[in-house]
Amino acid sequence: MKTVAAHAGVSLGTVSNVLNRPDLVSAATRDRVLAAIAELGFVRNESARQLRSGRSRTVAYVVLDAGNPFFTDVARGVEGVAEAANLAVYLCHTGEDIRREDFYLDMLEQQRVEGVLITPTDTANSHIEELRRRGTPVVVVDRNPGPGVCSVSVDNIHGGELAVSHLLEAGHRRIAFLGGPMTLGQVADRLAGARRAAERAPDAEILVLETGTLNVAEGLRAGERLAGLPAARRPTAAFCANDLLALGLLQQMVRLGLRVPDDLAIVGYDDIEFAEAAAVPLTSVRQPRHLLGRTAAELLLTESRGGPGHQHRQVVFEPELIVRASTRLRPG
Ligand code: RIB
Repeated sequence: MKTVAAHAGVSLGTVSNVLNRPDLVSAATRDRVLAAIAELGFVRNESARQLRSGRSRTVAYVVLDAGNPFFTDVARGVEGVAEAANLAVYLCHTGEDIRREDFYLDMLEQQRVEGVLITPTDTANSHIEELRRRGTPVVVVDRNPGPGVCSVSVDNIHGGELAVSHLLEAGHRRIAFLGGPMTLGQVADRLAGARRAAERAPDAEILVLETGTLNVAEGLRAGERLAGLPAARRPTAAFCANDLLALGLLQQMVRLGLRVPDDLAIVGYDDIEFAEAAAVPLTSVRQPRHLLGRTAAELLLTESRGGPGHQHRQVVFEPELIVRASTRLRPG
């Protein structure tokens, strides 16, 4: 920076302002400094800047599955807020592995990120609490662990109720629930909502098929299990804890020559873009993904920049049922 300042005939402080507070520098001076930077091939040293300021210009979003469009849709909402605040976004994939989650939490703290957004493998992970205690703001996404931390989520119990009430209204009484692991609060809440809806229809039953995780492959496997049940026991409908499971189940039904919705009605959860684009457009419980991400990022910056009086907030959005062909019974 000293070489740039000498080359442009300005002070070191002016070069710093051109890089950090260009609004404080006249256009002519700014152009002269930028010309010197270009001629000298100067690249600022972010590590040096970070050492001086104590914080990197990044936030992180730690997710269970970067292959699930739900998380990348939420991340796009985060990105909008981060870009406006001149911050970069790290997207960290844990694969629901708490060791990987701990690795990322360590790395992010060492890199002094401004804050961490996380959909945790388990909100009881004490590592998250340690991070916060040492001064890194954390906002939990897609879960509501309670009043002690900022969070943004959807009412997943109501979402499960919406899904199963819709199937009951379509006349189904033997309904499968696909989802897992049950240690994920959002899966457990969706099942609880499904059961609450089923209790209102005396002859309704929920058959739980716990899956190892929430992806297409598990949906394919669950489809084989469902199709292998004796016809008299086989559910006529399935509520899946997310759209990837539902898409795998749908694919398996097509492979096995079973019709959707006639042989099996299917409801998913998230309403990702592929739900509508599926071979049989999927009925799904929509989560406001961009809004979740935007709100979470705004909460994070409020906490990281708001000073000691910060009050944690738990923002809960309402889910919405989007009805499509995978549950709409053909007339007659
Ligand atoms: O966060 C766990 C699951 O809930 C994700 O798979 C996503 O689909 C959300 O709905």
